[in-house]
Amino acid sequence: MGLFLLALFLMAFSATCADEEAAFIGVNIGTALSDMPDPTQVVALLKSQQIQHVRLFDADRAMLLALANTGIHVTVSVPNDQLLGIGQSNSTAANWVSRNVLAYVPATNITAIAVGSEVLTTLPNAAPVLVSAMSFIHSALVASNLGSHIKVSTPHSSSVILDPFPPSQAFFNRTWEPVMVPLLKFLQSTDSYLMLNVYPYYDYMKASGAISLDYALFRPLLPTKEAVDLNTLLHYTNVFDAVVDAAYFATSYLNFTNIPVVVTESGWPSKGDSSEPDATLDNANTYNSNLIRHILNNTGTPKHPGIAVSTYIYELYNEDLRPGPVSEKNWGLFDGNGMPVYILRLTGSGTVLANDTTNQTYCVAREGADKKMLQAALDWACGPGKVDCSPLLQGQPCYEPDTVASHASYAFDAYYHRMAMGEGTCNFNGVATITTTDPSHASCIFSGRLLLLSSLSYKFFSASVLEEMAPSQTQQPLLHQLILQFLVVIRVLCAEKIFTGTL
Ligand SMILES: *[C@@H]1O[C@H](CO)[C@@H](O)[C@H](O)[C@H]1NC(C)=O
Ligand SMILES: *[C@@H]1O[C@H](CO)[C@@H](O)[C@H](O)[C@H]1NC(C)=O
Ligand SMILES: *[C@@H]1O[C@H](CO)[C@@H](O)[C@H](O)[C@H]1NC(C)=O
Ligand SMILES: *[C@@H]1O[C@H](CO)[C@@H](O)[C@H](O)[C@H]1NC(C)=O
Ligand SMILES: *[C@@H]1O[C@H](CO)[C@@H](O)[C@H](O)[C@H]1NC(C)=O
Ligand SMILES: *[C@@H]1O[C@H](CO)[C@@H](O)[C@H](O)[C@H]1NC(C)=O
Ligand SMILES: *[C@@H]1O[C@H](CO)[C@@H](O)[C@H](O)[C@H]1NC(C)=O
Repeated sequence: MGLFLLALFLMAFSATCADEEAAFIGVNIGTALSDMPDPTQVVALLKSQQIQHVRLFDADRAMLLALANTGIHVTVSVPNDQLLGIGQSNSTAANWVSRNVLAYVPATNITAIAVGSEVLTTLPNAAPVLVSAMSFIHSALVASNLGSHIKVSTPHSSSVILDPFPPSQAFFNRTWEPVMVPLLKFLQSTDSYLMLNVYPYYDYMKASGAISLDYALFRPLLPTKEAVDLNTLLHYTNVFDAVVDAAYFATSYLNFTNIPVVVTESGWPSKGDSSEPDATLDNANTYNSNLIRHILNNTGTPKHPGIAVSTYIYELYNEDLRPGPVSEKNWGLFDGNGMPVYILRLTGSGTVLANDTTNQTYCVAREGADKKMLQAALDWACGPGKVDCSPLLQGQPCYEPDTVASHASYAFDAYYHRMAMGEGTCNFNGVATITTTDPSHASCIFSGRLLLLSSLSYKFFSASVLEEMAPSQTQQPLLHQLILQFLVVIRVLCAEKIFTGTL
């Protein structure tokens, strides 16, 4: 046993929750809702979905206060209507930083400032002061010793990149070269990153047939359907990667290299009007699920494989008050009540936005159920039901309390989760019931709790530990329980940001 614990600790040290270079998924929080949840509700949703990175479109005081001491990383924004003032006066910029950033750090972990939003394409008259606004803000941060911790950048529409396919021929619209050159110089010298909004949905809509839906949605393509850049011979399997690579090439065309790209917005609307037939629940789910898996896998792009492209999904809530077509109001992952618009298909990709962290359910013995019927159901579960009931044996973690109800609960829950919580799998002739209260006790961890952990880490741990350390069958149930316990502890430490590694 001593050897076993030692191995666990060694693994804890070699494991890492989130390695510096690993890409993350964040979420944009727009607030144009008629029933906008209050900031504490927003933060509760973020926590329940394990969202660790958010971008605000302003620097709302109540929101920044609610985000304090949560460990959540926050990008705040200078709204476009404040840009001219800030770009024309370093003291206005310093005041903005003092009121909207210094007032909240370090309790609120502000890690970036987005200066304006798609300024070149939506507010061209402010373009001449964009870079001075950014450098005034950066100077104010430097004066407070925050210059390296808080990055300053500005989100661009991908439409500033012309001829994006093939990516190797992409370049920034020459009209904006007088802005892009000093801007890239600023990003490089301050160790910041290029913020880019990437919307394969719009690229697909505008291409009227030239881009396939599968290519836009990251669906698997036949090799003959992949897009090949004939200059580089790189193969593209999705629009997102092609646009990000176009940004890398456009940047290097201006002789800048090593400026990372962070995608500040990407998503797919779940509903549209009659002119938007591809804004559907299924397409939105497919796009966002595939996007999250692609990003968290650290796949990078064909030009820079393995280089993190962290991405903020657009967006947390459906914004019913946004003007424009129906799709404009339906980019959200959740409605104003915090209910998911659709359940993302994320099994195995970690815990961020994982569908199984909401409404976690367990199957337990119904209170007051007939003992004989419980015993019969328990026998069935451990027999024909194929539940591994060895943890219920004497001396094993779920033996105590040695009651039929307690043992039945363990077996029912294991069965229910093995059946993926399907309809009718928590019944057992009426002696079982679904609960949201975790019935795990002492060293006995119920299957439902396991779903809160990344299934990958569980597989890794159980396979390596069980096989190498427990040659004897009798020790396996105990080890299995210990592994669960250990993973729960790591999970909690990660959530509380006490432990920052990944398993
Ligand atoms: C603003 O710029 C002026 C002139 O360059 C300089 O003297 C002053 O210290 C700056 N103020 C701030 C708040 O950075
Ligand atoms: C804020 O986030 C950065 C980057 O993850 C981290 O290094 C830092 O410790 C965090 N600061 C606080 C106060 O949580
Ligand atoms: C380049 O930007 C200018 C200014 O916004 C715009 O008028 C022009 O149409 C753009 N060029 C292309 C090819 O989109
Ligand atoms: C980039 O560098 C090349 C080679 O040094 C030079 O010819 C070109 O003018 C440069 N381009 C820009 C935009 O500075
Ligand atoms: C994950 O990354 C590996 C290599 O880094 C790649 O082969 C695989 O296709 C990627 N999976 C997804 C879903 O992107
Ligand atoms: C989570 O997603 C997976 C994959 O799509 C699905 O099988 C499972 O039923 C979902 N879980 C819930 C609780 O909806
Ligand atoms: C969570 O529970 C509520 C209320 O029971 C239900 O309306 C909602 O659809 C559930 N959400 C998920 C993701 O299962």
